[in-house]
Amino acid sequence: MSFGLGRGRELDDSGVGVRIGPGGDLPPLPDGVAGDPRAGHVDLRAWFPHPEHPLEIEIGSGKGTFLVQQGALRPETNYLGIEYAREFYLYAADRIRRRVEAAGDLTNVRMLNTDAFEFLCWRVPDACARVIHLYFADPWPKTRHHKRRMVRDEFLRQCRRVLEPGGELRIVTDHAEYWAWMEEHFARWCLPLVARHSVPGSEEHRPTTGGFVRLPFDRAESAGQDEVVGTNFERKYKREGRPFYGAILKRI
Ligand SMILES: C[S@@+](CC[C@H](N)C(=O)[O-])C[C@H]1O[C@@H](n2cnc3c(N)ncnc32)[C@H](O)[C@@H]1O
Repeated sequence: MSFGLGRGRELDDSGVGVRIGPGGDLPPLPDGVAGDPRAGHVDLRAWFPHPEHPLEIEIGSGKGTFLVQQGALRPETNYLGIEYAREFYLYAADRIRRRVEAAGDLTNVRMLNTDAFEFLCWRVPDACARVIHLYFADPWPKTRHHKRRMVRDEFLRQCRRVLEPGGELRIVTDHAEYWAWMEEHFARWCLPLVARHSVPGSEEHRPTTGGFVRLPFDRAESAGQDEVVGTNFERKYKREGRPFYGAILKRI
């Protein structure tokens, strides 16, 4: 429960928030997970009333505007929003909960309060998501903070692992310098798969970079007129007249 962003109104994540901890939807990581990265994987699809529906993950959902708009438009798709700022997580989860109670829709949307990168690395099974959305990620402009940026090689490697073949990583930012950084990373990952060593079947014969095809960003189905995605940050930056940059990396 929290009263912060709710301007005095109690924020309640019940029925929408994924519980972490003993007995919760997300149990603690098992011992020895470092030696067996798959040991901590959980079946995310089982968190939804229709586990058979395709899964999309949004990283850094903020106030949850994209999830509310897109989740209502596509009830046959499951959406998991991951937000590590507790107040924003609660705000988004409460917003979705109220919609479920009032209108009966958005039962296909759930929120998780954790670090999305760690979650991808340790919890998400291979090839389980159809789309990963990353909109207006924190740019961390100072050079000494660049290592905190979400888009980096290990993030792209994890996205490739987690996406189904043909699945998409959809990214939009307003930040020109972060975009240039992303483009350098995309260039490395939008190559044919290359092996570190050339002996097929050897332990070292595994993909290093590559494995995506880059496509231009096409606007989200739920975006309003003249919008790209229609998130809170997009609306704020649009009022300031900032340009937007975006791409889709399609997993091959
Ligand atoms: C600039 S805001 C954008 C929010 C929303 N996507 C939008 O466009 O309105 C970035 C959001 O990502 C969240 N975030 C940053 N790093 C994260 C991480 N590692 N895991 C989960 N959420 C993260 C922040 O708390 C913040 O809410």
